[in-house]
Amino acid sequence: MTQHMLLLGHTLLFSGNPLSQNWEDTVSIDSTGGVLIKDGHIAEVGSADALRKAYPTAQITDYGDALICPGFVDAHAHYPQTAIIASWGKRLIDWLNRYTFPEEMRLSDPDYAREIAGRYLDLTLAHGTTTVSSYTTIAPHSVDAIFDAAATRGQRIVAGKTCMDRNAPEGLRDTAQSAYDDSKALIDRWHGKGRASYAITPRFTPTSSPEQLAALGTLWSERPDCLMQTHLSEQVDEIAWVRDLAPHARDYLDTYEEHGLLGDRAVFGHAIHLEPREIDQIAGSGASIVHCPTSNTFIGSGLFDMAGLAARYIPIGLATDTGGGSSFSMLRTMAAAYEIGQLRGTPLHAAQLIWLATAGSARSLHLHDKIGSLAPGFEADITVLDLSSTPAIAQRANNAETIWDQLFATIMMGDDRAIQDVWVGGKKRT
Ligand code: GUN
Ligand code: ZN
Repeated sequence: MTQHMLLLGHTLLFSGNPLSQNWEDTVSIDSTGGVLIKDGHIAEVGSADALRKAYPTAQITDYGDALICPGFVDAHAHYPQTAIIASWGKRLIDWLNRYTFPEEMRLSDPDYAREIAGRYLDLTLAHGTTTVSSYTTIAPHSVDAIFDAAATRGQRIVAGKTCMDRNAPEGLRDTAQSAYDDSKALIDRWHGKGRASYAITPRFTPTSSPEQLAALGTLWSERPDCLMQTHLSEQVDEIAWVRDLAPHARDYLDTYEEHGLLGDRAVFGHAIHLEPREIDQIAGSGASIVHCPTSNTFIGSGLFDMAGLAARYIPIGLATDTGGGSSFSMLRTMAAAYEIGQLRGTPLHAAQLIWLATAGSARSLHLHDKIGSLAPGFEADITVLDLSSTPAIAQRANNAETIWDQLFATIMMGDDRAIQDVWVGGKKRT
């Protein structure tokens, strides 16, 4: 008989989307909760007492005052940029040329790609992130490296070969045909294998020719169960460049749309400076948008309109965008989302922030029936938060009126010290 594991503590529970309904009606915390794990999955969620009685032989971990959450889901990251995170002084295009492309070139060495993939997943797990959707480099072995590293750690993962065939240095360009061929071979190798899924990944219009975008649109039509991830309307200079490159296009989104790269499994990173037509088309297609707040402030991109886009029922995920983003931590990322909401006059509640970092991100990646919630049948990816992880946080938590105030203090001031435990597929990481 397989051993049951029972985690006890405060449990975070979702019953709907707190961006489109009152958060009180959709997010709750059971202060005497329990999560029963069996065979890598969540078997039951309920009250600690009832679960103890029903499963007297279960192996118990009592987390006391800690908050048992779904593992964090980072819906947009670039693992190859791990070693150049927090590079000073550039905006998007110069930052890509000065820091990003040279580092991505270094991953032409398969050993270095493997080293960075492992380092990246260890760092993000230490910050409570159990699933990422990552860009890679143009090198197919960089895709193998991250899928291999995730499989070794038992993690659910989304990744795809970053395709670019123009406006990138020699040695960091593929072609329309090789992007199609390599992506297709990687889909065959990885998509649906274990906990892996593939995202067809044109980097963005400035670095993908119309021919490459068309080839990847064809590939997506042949493999519609894959995600398609790319960047959209991140920075004003980038949008002006796209207008120069594609003067016939109605707007930035149109440069993807005209090649079949808009649909409900499309995932657009950033999407800050959208035109009304773009918002209508995204809303109508069912595509997701991923908010990358630390990146948007760090590279100086702008203030994302969470409230406006959520009002259109567009699925929204949350992400670090490492290493344009300045942190590996989804706690820090939630804090930055709060701050951007403040600057727009629409602050997010702690319940909305933690939902975005878990179920919201999972929904944006179409993984919301597998991860992102503590519910029966879900994969047992769990992050346990210590809500008093430092003296500064503990003194604020002691003075809190509700557990939401405690959680908010950890969101605003917490880091990897707040991550008490991480469970991946029902196994505790040590
Ligand atoms: N746009 C195209 N590539 C990138 C990237 O690597 N990071 C960010 N933030 N934006 C991009
Ligand atoms: Zn990005």
